[in-house]
Amino acid sequence: MGYRVAVVGATGNVGREMLNILEEVKFPVEKIHAIASRKSIGQLVSFGDQNIACEDVEQFDFSKVDVVLMSVSGSFSKEWSPKIGAAGPIVIDNSSAWRMDPDVPLIVPEVNPDDVEWANRKNIIANPNCSTAQLVVALKPLHDRAKIKRVVVATYQSVSGAGKEGMDELWDQTKGVFVLGAPEPKKFPKQIAFNVIPFIGAFRDDGYTDEEAKMWDETHKMIDPAIKLTVTCVRVPVMVGHSEAVNIEFESPLDEDEAREILREAPGLIVIDKREPTGYITPKEAQGEFPVFVSRIRNDPTVENGLSMWVVADNLRKGAALNAVQIAELLHQRGLIRQKAIA
Ligand SMILES: NC(=O)c1ccc[n+]([C@@H]2O[C@H](COP(=O)([O-])OP(=O)(O)OC[C@H]3O[C@@H](n4cnc5c(N)ncnc54)[C@H](OP(=O)(O)O)[C@@H]3O)[C@@H](O)[C@H]2O)c1
Repeated sequence: MGYRVAVVGATGNVGREMLNILEEVKFPVEKIHAIASRKSIGQLVSFGDQNIACEDVEQFDFSKVDVVLMSVSGSFSKEWSPKIGAAGPIVIDNSSAWRMDPDVPLIVPEVNPDDVEWANRKNIIANPNCSTAQLVVALKPLHDRAKIKRVVVATYQSVSGAGKEGMDELWDQTKGVFVLGAPEPKKFPKQIAFNVIPFIGAFRDDGYTDEEAKMWDETHKMIDPAIKLTVTCVRVPVMVGHSEAVNIEFESPLDEDEAREILREAPGLIVIDKREPTGYITPKEAQGEFPVFVSRIRNDPTVENGLSMWVVADNLRKGAALNAVQIAELLHQRGLIRQKAIA
């Protein structure tokens, strides 16, 4: 007996991956619904070897499903998640709308799985920002061993993190540069093809961006509010896969060899760290993969108990869709999905 599952935002970058991954991990699905906006009614999306037709969110009766995987905007989720949660199913939301709500657990299953136990407060569970998800998978096992004092991160975020319009803009500009000149930027504030943009989201009064603030807020909620974290978020002309240069200062000694061993044993991580010209991971190799990859692990002699490393993951998978499906699996393992009789 499986669950009745709805994917809301099924035509988007993350929604399509959710459908792929539900099938790949053989999540027990009894009935699947693909939901999007009115303009996508009838549009076919794949679920394994089936093509399923999209339904309109406005017309859909959410009381007939058990789990909703949602991947639309924050404003959409603010309006819809409470209504859907009240209708019965548990909502696993990918937007930023609920991440810092004290009554909504923010979950990465490798990091804070027990927080699913209080998901019934609003029937909503939040997924972290894509850059935070991969970072906390790498930080948590190290923090458990040597307590992290401070982290300095620079991100190298792919255009798929900005949705399908972001991918289209990189594609069109890249082709255009060699023909008629790159089309004017629309999704990104400056040309992204053959360029990097040190600005993602919106500026705050302190000069950081909201994308940057999400990374420390969410790390505090999931791991430890005492960790000091500073970050520069940068958009790069890569289609899929976010990379992060991470520098960590620990309270007690932890050298590169021990850190490598801890990360090798930790859930959801693969260490690729050979000191030869190809002995590290790049986003191209992480694309389509489930784990978070860690490379270039090395002591930082410029601070006491310092370590640097390179962390890469598929932002559409561990950064979004995979994490959401893993939360659904966790709920299933703990018997927390409300199974109702099918009418
Ligand atoms: N991409 C990432 O790496 C990533 C990572 C973590 C979190 N997220 C978050 O996940 C969410 C979706 O991101 P995405 O990259 O998948 O975006 P996307 O590719 O632009 O897809 C957006 C989806 O939302 C649907 N939608 C938009 N307005 C709607 C409405 N009024 N009613 C119903 N459906 C509506 C779209 O359906 P139509 O085709 O019908 O318009 C589409 O399926 C965002 O909140 C994003 O911040 C993304």
